[in-house]
Amino acid sequence: MLQGALRQGLIALLLATPALAGPTAAQRGKAFARANCARCHAIDRTSVSPLKIAPPLRSLHQRYPIETLGEALAEGIYTGHADMPAFELNPDQIHDLLSYLKTLE
Ligand code: HEC
Repeated sequence: MLQGALRQGLIALLLATPALAGPTAAQRGKAFARANCARCHAIDRTSVSPLKIAPPLRSLHQRYPIETLGEALAEGIYTGHADMPAFELNPDQIHDLLSYLKTLE
């Protein structure tokens, strides 16, 4: 009896732990942005970009529909990126990143 209850409690605990449930696409996208973009772009809702001329990622959708941005990311963003390393993202990374950007809209 007690053991059963204990086990159920443990299972509930495991299910409630996000890390064990696996990150969502948006969470992976945020991690990707933090690793690759945050050096220059603000990646959250409020902060100022570390590199002043880099627009905060949250403002990108005001300039581009998020879907168009996906195409640009797939081809590699070169335009206007004198200070920025050229990126070519694979489709999974793009999906994750766009999912994250949508949470900022
Ligand atoms: C080394 C600094 C740096 C990094 C790292 C960086 N960027 Fe940029 N990015 C810039 C700068 C600077 C601009 C603004 C260029 C301009 O407007 O002339 C910019 C502009 C952009 C634009 C807008 C382009 C346009 O034409 O308006 C997008 C989209 C973008 N970055 C996406 C990203 C993404 C996604 C990442 C991460 C994968 C990233 N950037 C990482 C520096 C960086």
